[in-house]
Amino acid sequence: MKDRFGREIDYIRVSVTDRCNFRCIYCMPEGGVVPKTCADILRFEEIARFLKAIVPLGISTVRITGGEPLVRRGIVDFVRMVRRIPGVKDIAMTTNGSLLAGIAADLKRAGLDRVNISLDSLKPERFRRMTRNGDLKSVLNGIDAALENGLEPVKINCVVIKGFNDDEIMDFADLTRERNLTVRFIELMPIGESEKARMDFVPADRMSRVIGGELEPVEYPGEGAGPAVYYRLPGAKGYIGFIAPMTGHFCSQCNRVRLTSDGKLKVCLDSEEEFDVKAALRGGACDEELRRIFTGALMKKPEGHRMNVVRFGKPGRTMCQIGG
Ligand code: GTP
Ligand code: 5AD
Ligand code: SF4
Repeated sequence: MKDRFGREIDYIRVSVTDRCNFRCIYCMPEGGVVPKTCADILRFEEIARFLKAIVPLGISTVRITGGEPLVRRGIVDFVRMVRRIPGVKDIAMTTNGSLLAGIAADLKRAGLDRVNISLDSLKPERFRRMTRNGDLKSVLNGIDAALENGLEPVKINCVVIKGFNDDEIMDFADLTRERNLTVRFIELMPIGESEKARMDFVPADRMSRVIGGELEPVEYPGEGAGPAVYYRLPGAKGYIGFIAPMTGHFCSQCNRVRLTSDGKLKVCLDSEEEFDVKAALRGGACDEELRRIFTGALMKKPEGHRMNVVRFGKPGRTMCQIGG
């Protein structure tokens, strides 16, 4: 269905947990977040019930996010539940990849189509520092498992932070030469930890200058063109993308809404207003009522975010609680 600005909304990002086995410096506070209790978060059956009610309104992609979705028990069964919902064409997951090697085959069998894997450094020690004790090898194994099991296209998300990892842009770009990987460079958004620590983003045009004139613009052939703009190195097997929330203007093409793990609908990454799906589900709302909440929320979707205007706008939640 269309929102007030004529945007076709066909994509929902479902955060299934705010917990994570990493604590990336720009995403999680050092001491972690106070985890929500089991009663606070939606049961998988509740999420599936909500999705069943709203998918007929035109949702075709479901992206499962976290925190880290793979730390939640029963995630494979959840993928299976989503797969059974008529109308869902594309099921994707955003993961830190560290637990993927052990579960990729099961996820694929359950019906997961594709994964985006977060990876911000290829240097083991730096990776450990940036994730506060993450093991780079576990993520590299996760990437291999995703490719071996056909969870494709496999996209690597690299959030570039000035002074932390901006010297690795070319190393990441080189990953696309020999393997069928899509590497996306992301401008850091000032949300939660990154905003508190006043970390700085690197503009996408500066990132692409580092890679140089070899980059050829392409129409992305895989699922999920999303907010990224894609290129290719000559002769490369994979693709390079840039996601520029700070210097680009992709809000006019935004096709998505978000459901947080505690059952709140968020119609923009940057909006403070949330719509209480959990209360409705637990209060015995019928499908029609759930659809009314959904369409009512959509009508309040703003034209765009204000992160590049109001430097310290407060979305009120950290990224691990929203799911990116
Ligand atoms: P595809 O379906 O593969 O295109 O996925 P995606 O790129 O939309 O999802 P992913 O979870 O990999 O997110 C990549 C980056 O884009 C993260 O930094 C997200 O926070 C950011 N992002 C995703 N959706 C939005 C959005 O609606 N607004 C903004 N500002 N950033 C977004
Ligand atoms: N800005 C941009 N991207 C972010 N992510 C987490 N925090 C931020 C931020 N402040 C990314 C993660 C993951 C995706 C869901 O969002 O690296 O790839
Ligand atoms: Fe965990 Fe992803 Fe946040 Fe890192 S960015 S702490 S991997 S949720």
